[in-house]
Amino acid sequence: MRNLYLTQTATIVDIKSQNSMVRVFVLKPENGKLFNYWPGQFINLSIKGFGEAPFAVCSAPSKTGEFQICAQKKGVLTGKLFALSMGDKVGFRGPYGNGFPLSKIAKRNLTLIAGGVGLAPLRPLIQLIRSRSFEFGKIQLFCGAREKQMLLFQNEYDAWQKHLQINLTLDIASENWKGNVGLITDLFDKIKLVKNPVLIMCGPAIMYPAVIKKLKQKKVTEKDIYVLLERRMHCGIGICQHCVLVNGKYVCKDGPVFNYAEIKNSPGAI
Ligand SMILES: Cc1cc2nc3c(=O)[nH]c(=O)nc-3n(C[C@H](O)[C@H](O)[C@H](O)COP(=O)(O)OP(=O)(O)OC[C@H]3O[C@@H](n4cnc5c(N)ncnc54)[C@H](O)[C@@H]3O)c2cc1C
Ligand code: FES
Repeated sequence: MRNLYLTQTATIVDIKSQNSMVRVFVLKPENGKLFNYWPGQFINLSIKGFGEAPFAVCSAPSKTGEFQICAQKKGVLTGKLFALSMGDKVGFRGPYGNGFPLSKIAKRNLTLIAGGVGLAPLRPLIQLIRSRSFEFGKIQLFCGAREKQMLLFQNEYDAWQKHLQINLTLDIASENWKGNVGLITDLFDKIKLVKNPVLIMCGPAIMYPAVIKKLKQKKVTEKDIYVLLERRMHCGIGICQHCVLVNGKYVCKDGPVFNYAEIKNSPGAI
């Protein structure tokens, strides 16, 4: 039987800087086996002496066995991670969590909503859509960041644009920025939603109530809204109780992707 708790070793084979606070780490598991996961799932990354924390896998499953995480420098673990170089080793376990509900979104129009580093978990879904676009309807992305350099994966937008409509906004205008300035909710007043969409949202907790209020004004059906939740996690597999919501759902095991209707009455979930 597979030990869900087992930590494996991976080598950092590449590091791609997104901005001063965010880097993509390309990881290759040492056992040489393919690492199987589904877009929307996460791993627990560990560095000996510096702890462990969850990170969404931000790349679509590949045949090389490598996978990517996109980490924002925050505290003890990520501080050490940012001090590592190519060739250094980290621990990881997983994949954990449910991932995106493909059966609910296939053939449907799709609105992806990302704030800041929230674009990272959506990237493998975007990559999947690009490779299997015949399975989806019209796709649009609403993406907000504090300033231009905080917009992630900018060098991929041209390729993405062949498959989805990209709508960007910045909190703070910068030189040479011709796009929207303002909060992500402003975009919903300016850009029409695709017809009868499924919506998937990932970003800072503060963004969720404001966006959901806006979506309700647009008469979006609650059961078509999916949100990714973030909680302090330890075990990642439904044992330690750190991530359990008031309604008894585990963010690590039943999420991190939740249908909004499923958690809206669970105090503190959003
Ligand atoms: C499912 C999931 C997926 C995630 N995916 C990503 C991802 O793709 N990319 C990414 O960058 N992050 C992601 N995160 C968040 C990431 O796990 C955290 O930012 C992690 O805490 C960073 O570890 P650290 O040791 O560097 O920071 P920490 O030392 O844990 O500090 C992080 C922040 O939390 C504060 N903090 C520390 N301890 C506590 C506490 N006990 N109570 C309240 N606040 C505290 C610190 O002051 C700091 O601001 C994800 C989280 C979850 C649950
Ligand atoms: S992290 Fe332990 S129960 Fe979810």
